[in-house]
Amino acid sequence: MTTQNILLHYSPQRRNLLPVIKEVSREEGFVSETAADLIAKYFNLTRAEVLSAATFYSEVKTKKQPELIIKVCDGANCNLKGSEETLRQIELFLGQKEGDEHNALVKIERVSCFGQCLSGPNVQIGETIYDKIFPDRVIDLLRGYLE
Ligand code: FES
Repeated sequence: MTTQNILLHYSPQRRNLLPVIKEVSREEGFVSETAADLIAKYFNLTRAEVLSAATFYSEVKTKKQPELIIKVCDGANCNLKGSEETLRQIELFLGQKEGDEHNALVKIERVSCFGQCLSGPNVQIGETIYDKIFPDRVIDLLRGYLE
C-alpha cells in the first residue's frame, strides 16, 4: 500500500501520526523523505517533525534497509559464551564492521538480547534466530545466505 493509500485510512488528527508512520515503515520498509513530506502535509507538520517522531521508535526506519541484517546478541549470557568472537568472525568474513551502513546489501548489528539466553551465542539473520553460533559455525551459515 502506498503512503497516499495509508493516509486515506486515517483522519489528519495528531493522534494518528504515529500509527501512520508505523504503517508506512512496515509497508515500504522505511519512511522515505517523500513519504515524510506527504505525511507532513497531511498532518500540517514539517518533514523534520515527522522524521523526528519516526526516529523515536526503533522499529521505524528512516533509511532504506539493507537486504540482509545480521544481529549478534551481546547480552551477558551470549557474551560469556563467546558472541564477541562470533561477531569478529562475521566482520572478517564480510569485510565490514558492525554498524557500518555503507553496504546496501548487508548490515551487522549488535543487539542486547533475544530472550533465548541459554542457547547462546545467538545470531539472527533476516527473520531467523540461530543458536549456538560459535565462530567455527558462523561462516557456513552466512554462506548459505550469500551464495
Ligand atoms: S543474552 Fe543472548 S539471547 Fe539473551
